[in-house]
Formats: sequence, structure tokens, C-alpha cells
Amino acid sequence: MAKVLVTGGAGFIGSRVVEKLLSKNYSVCVIDNLSTGKRENLPECANSTFYNQDICGNSLEEIFEKEKPDFVIHLAAQVSVGNSVSDPYDDARTNILGSINLLELSKTYNVKKFIAASSAAVYGIPKNLPIDENHPTEPISPYGLSKITMERYIRLSGVPYIIFRFSNAYGARQYLSKESGVISIFDKMMKNNEQVSIFGDGAQIRDFVYVGDIAEIFERAIASDVNNETLNFSTNKGITVNELFLMMREIYGYKKAPVFLPEREGEIRDSILSNDKVVRLLRYDKFKTLSEGLECLKNL
Ligand SMILES: NC(=O)c1ccc[n+]([C@@H]2O[C@H](COP(=O)([O-])OP(=O)(O)OC[C@H]3O[C@@H](n4cnc5c(N)ncnc54)[C@H](O)[C@@H]3O)[C@@H](O)[C@H]2O)c1
Repeated sequence: MAKVLVTGGAGFIGSRVVEKLLSKNYSVCVIDNLSTGKRENLPECANSTFYNQDICGNSLEEIFEKEKPDFVIHLAAQVSVGNSVSDPYDDARTNILGSINLLELSKTYNVKKFIAASSAAVYGIPKNLPIDENHPTEPISPYGLSKITMERYIRLSGVPYIIFRFSNAYGARQYLSKESGVISIFDKMMKNNEQVSIFGDGAQIRDFVYVGDIAEIFERAIASDVNNETLNFSTNKGITVNELFLMMREIYGYKKAPVFLPEREGEIRDSILSNDKVVRLLRYDKFKTLSEGLECLKNL
């Protein structure tokens, strides 16, 4: 039974990845400091072990020594763009130094593949849409900068890798804050019949990817012999925030009109990631449509 170390496994995406791996009979160990993740997101299961640890901590080596993982899935991160602006040191500590820590240990302990979560934020302001992997990387936030720096350390490390650049993920268990994904915020507001706000004119375009698809692609990345690739992961389908609101209003039976608030500073206007490369290399083409994913979310 292959063993997978999942950092950030108690978080929104990580906990879904852990569930998927356990369902495929992998043995899993999780490192998470529970800064945004929750212990209860993880199943109690004989094939999984949980370490309440910071990825920058000194005891990481003891965990590698004890567990000797075959694969590392690296999701632990400071994920807030706003926090990265107000505290770039903390962002760099986790996203860069924490990643280096894991890479060094992955080298020492001969990890077979290091699979990491990066972000559309590495591209900065799109020069064209959809954005493919050859688009220039000119991040406009410390978060984007820490993610592209992590990517470069991974490529230099010599450890076989796959890097996924995700668009906006949605689904159950997303950590709710001012900056959470728009779908999670609309979901909560509509379920509680609260007033929904839209920043700007709502004509900004986004692409969304269901968290269940992300869990699948990590599992496929482990099982596949594809190595040393950087892959966007997204549905390649853009939708405006206004269209999203109307779609969710219909699905949720929500009756109120939205309130429009001033545009948020530093937000990228439109973003759509091309998924041609991941479809070709990992043969993944069963993305949930947005309406299917929203139906799942609504029924939770
Ligand atoms: N959610 C999205 O839309 C999205 C989009 C692109 C990329 N990503 C990336 O996917 C990954 C997972 O994001 P998420 O949305 O599940 O966020 P999340 O906040 O739910 O998960 C991050 C997890 O990492 C843990 N963590 C944070 N700092 C840590 C540290 N120093 N040591 C140990 N654990 C730590 C948190 O407790 C949490 O469980 C991140 O790397 C994020 O940058 C997410």
C-alpha cells in the first residue's frame, strides 16, 4: 500500500483529497497546523495518521523518518491574498520556507513524486484568455509571488513533481472569510436568506472548478507516470459574477436582488485558465459542470 503525506490535509481541498486517497486504499498521513483547517474535516481511520504540525517546524524530519512517504501532496499554505499584502513575511514563511523544508526532506527520503497546489494568481493580469501555461507569470500580489517562487524551488529540487495551478475552487467545507470564494459566500447568504453583495459591476469573469474534481486529479497524478509538468486545472469555462448570481438564485430559490458595492482593489478583472494540457496529459475530462456542482453544494 503506497503512503501519501498530505500537507494541509485538514483544509477545504486537502480533506477531500484525503477522502479520495483513502477510498483508493492509499495509506495517508496528514500534516496540518489547523490555522484554517479543522480536525473534524478528517475521518478517523486506521489508514490515516494526523500530525498537528507547522510545515516550518523542526519536527518535520521526525515525521518523514517515521512515515517514509512514497508521495507528498503539498497543499498547506497561507491562502489569503489580503493577508499576503498585510503580512508578506508570514506569507513567505509558510509558502516559500515551508515548501523548501518539505522539498529538502522529500529529497532526503527519496519521495517518488511531489505534487503541489499553485494558483492562477501566478499569472497576474491576463494578456489573453484563456490563459495557458506558457502565459507570462507576473504576479501582482505577494501570494502570487510566493506561489511562483515555490514552483521554482520545486523545479530546481530534482524531486519528480507535478504542479497544479488551480482556478477558483468551490464546494463544501471552504473556510469562510471576507475573501472566501464567491460561491461559498453566495451559498451561505442564500441558504440563510441574507442579502448578497457583489463587488464592482458584476461583469468580471471567473472560472470555477469543483473540489471533487481537484481531489480526483491529485489521485490521478499519483497513479500516472507523468512527471515534471506544470498544469492548469480548471473547467476552461468563464462566467460573469452576475450570471453566477442568477444561476445560483434559480437553483437555491433565492428571491432577493443583489447589492452592488465598490470594486475591490487589486482584484484581477477577468480570468479563465485553459485546461488543454491537463486534459491531454492526465486524460481528465469529466469535470462537473457548474450547475451540477452547485446542485451538490446546495444539497449539503
Ligand atoms: N481554494 C482555492 O480556490 C484555491 C485556488 C488556487 C490554489 N489553492 C491552493 O490550494 C491549497 C489548499 O487551499 P484551500 O482552499 O484548501 O485552503 P485551506 O485554508 O482550507 O487549506 C490550507 C490548509 O493548510 C493548513 N496550513 C496553513 N498553514 C500551515 C502551516 N504553516 N503548516 C501546516 N499547515 C498549514 C491550514 O490549516 C489548512 O488546513 C493551497 O495551497 C492554496 O494556495 C486554492
